[in-house]
Amino acid sequence: MSERQKIIDGKAFAETLRNKLAAEVATLKEKHGLNPGLAVVLVGEDPASKVYVRNKGEQTKAIGMASIEHKLPISTTQEELLALIDRLNKDPKVNGILCQLPLPKQIDPQAIINAIDPDKDVDGFHVVNAGRLATGGKGLVPCTPYGCLLLLKDRIGDLTGRHAIVLGRSNIVGKPMAQLLLNENCTVTIAHSKTRDLPGETRRADIVVAAVGRPEMVKGDWIKEGAVVIDVGINRIEGPDGKARLVGDVEYKSAFARASAITPVPGGVGPMTIAMLLNNTIIAACRQKGIERPR
Ligand SMILES: NC(=O)c1ccc[n+]([C@@H]2O[C@H](COP(=O)([O-])OP(=O)(O)OC[C@H]3O[C@@H](n4cnc5c(N)ncnc54)[C@H](OP(=O)(O)O)[C@@H]3O)[C@@H](O)[C@H]2O)c1
Repeated sequence: MSERQKIIDGKAFAETLRNKLAAEVATLKEKHGLNPGLAVVLVGEDPASKVYVRNKGEQTKAIGMASIEHKLPISTTQEELLALIDRLNKDPKVNGILCQLPLPKQIDPQAIINAIDPDKDVDGFHVVNAGRLATGGKGLVPCTPYGCLLLLKDRIGDLTGRHAIVLGRSNIVGKPMAQLLLNENCTVTIAHSKTRDLPGETRRADIVVAAVGRPEMVKGDWIKEGAVVIDVGINRIEGPDGKARLVGDVEYKSAFARASAITPVPGGVGPMTIAMLLNNTIIAACRQKGIERPR
């Protein structure tokens, strides 16, 4: 395999996926009169959140779906936000609901997440969806780990019997990632900040998923020769020239030398997240209407 082929190009994969989703949306409109709708709620003025919400809206519209945006002031109370979620839960034109995190401090994020109808919870963060994933039920799966799984399956095929390590145990990335890999018959190690001998644990793995939020923490000599590396981390650091740049949780150059395949940062996992959000909205819309997903 050439050096170039070792790179798992999430940007290209996400683009192909979005094109397929656009075709599905066209079929849903034509055959079933269904126009899937995604509602995104933004509370406050966090600059990064505003960019994410704008990108989500643009990509939703680009594949032909309806984008519904609610922008609320930073002073919004939990009761006001819950009232909006309730209206969106009941709105038949809204098939997916996402509340952009972080929320202002007067609002408990878990209370908001758990107020979303689990069948419209396209982020897959609701406790019911976490439970469905853990017990093999039909739920909605968190977008980032779901995207990582698609990249892994595209590169490796059947994951059965592989030893996978997930570095990080957050509810939004690490834990659902580990569940997904377990569901694919991997033998899964979940590592975290209290894990002893992280390099040694990582070296035993055929698949390494790094989601710790620590710039370039995973070194090349932690990677088993031929392992597949998925770097979820997005960290902004200052480069030698004084300019800000993005790096992952993996030291890319040294890991590249050992891995059989690796996601770059940027251009690896990042672009998959919104594509999987659109994917989840189509899944949710079809289930709500009792329609088979057009593929
Ligand atoms: N590509 C995307 O679209 C996308 C989406 C979401 C997140 N991300 C990125 O993914 C990274 C992780 O996100 P997150 O939300 O899961 O982060 P998080 O909630 O902060 O969780 C980080 C996890 O890493 C573990 N950890 C931290 N330092 C460690 C260390 N030195 N050794 C071993 N484990 C350590 C923590 O362990 P403890 O539990 O023991 O504290 C925790 O479980 C971040 O860089 C984030 O920006 C990217």
